Amino acid sequence: MNFSYKTTHIDKNSGARTGELLTPHGVIKTPIFMPVGTQATVKSLTPEDLEKIGAQIILSNTYHLHLRPGEEIIKKAGGLHKFMNWKKPILTDSGGFQVFSLSKLRKVSDDGVEFKSHLDGSKLFMSPEKCMQIQQDLGTDIIMALDVCSDLGTSYVQAEKDLEVTTKWLKRCFEAQTNEHQMLFPIIQGSMYKDLRQKSVKDMLPYIKCGVAIGGIAIGEAKKTTYDILDVLNPILPTSVPRYLMGAGSPDLLIEGVLRGVDMFDCVMATRISRHGTAWTSGGKVVVKNALYKEDFSSLDPECDCETCKNYTKAYLRHLINTEEMLGARLLSIHNLRFLLKLMEDIRDAINKDRFLEFREEFYKKYNNKG
Ligand code: GUN
Ligand code: ZN
Repeated sequence: MNFSYKTTHIDKNSGARTGELLTPHGVIKTPIFMPVGTQATVKSLTPEDLEKIGAQIILSNTYHLHLRPGEEIIKKAGGLHKFMNWKKPILTDSGGFQVFSLSKLRKVSDDGVEFKSHLDGSKLFMSPEKCMQIQQDLGTDIIMALDVCSDLGTSYVQAEKDLEVTTKWLKRCFEAQTNEHQMLFPIIQGSMYKDLRQKSVKDMLPYIKCGVAIGGIAIGEAKKTTYDILDVLNPILPTSVPRYLMGAGSPDLLIEGVLRGVDMFDCVMATRISRHGTAWTSGGKVVVKNALYKEDFSSLDPECDCETCKNYTKAYLRHLINTEEMLGARLLSIHNLRFLLKLMEDIRDAINKDRFLEFREEFYKKYNNKG
């Protein structure tokens, strides 16, 4: 086993922590944001671009790569790192969540989940063992257990059933592991029910060896609900491993997550809003498409050090988005990802100086245009 996690500092005032996670493809400084490369590419960026903006680890997806090109091809290429030429760590999601959000006709049983491909409607089956085998073929550093993410608004009875299946599947994922160089993260479920969340931690504890993920939140519920669930989990999750909040990646969720003990985040939002012409900046959200920027020859964010902000104007970016030129999405993706990665760098720095609470105040003041 060549992985380990160690906490490097705990902020004296907030309790937020920095740490280092050693993986077979290098060290990750936490807390960290992971850009999402669902189809073995972070949309419109090369791995060289990702290195330049400071990405330490990226995320990819078992469900998508299983459908296309298929794990056999990636295995033949020498694994996902070689296939896509990314030399740093990769985390793969298990596909559970994607089966539930993308495919039709899902039948869950203790055995696994039967579903129809969102591409051609063909009938497929994913078992915990299959999910582990695919992720082993991909050769990624951090692998996720197969889980059932309860829909928003799921009843208590259904959430309890979803959790029961998730825990059963976790045990089988745990037993199906054959590559000791991969870190399996269990996924805590339990919908918005606090006692189910507590039960999930208790039942999964024996399988939390390298890290743990929090699933089933940040799926559209009120922010206060997200924070309440994190507040329930923070004191009961082990501190000896990194905690990963799945699918969360807006600036405020990153800050509030770190305050509540989260070490890792991912989200497609940064690249998705880029394609629609929106940017996060130190002064708040900027809708580049807006006519307001027609003759604005200033940079997107004067505080940002990315290539987009150094070299291009809002008027030009607006033009690219309005004409649906590919470069528009690319330049905004570079900026939005750099914005989140820089935010995490600043958060780590503030924690190490015991001033995370002050940093949080200052960030919101500017971001909400009150600075
Ligand atoms: N991505 C965002 N939320 C989830 C979740 O609950 N489970 C999985 N597997 N992936 C996610
Ligand atoms: Zn920028």
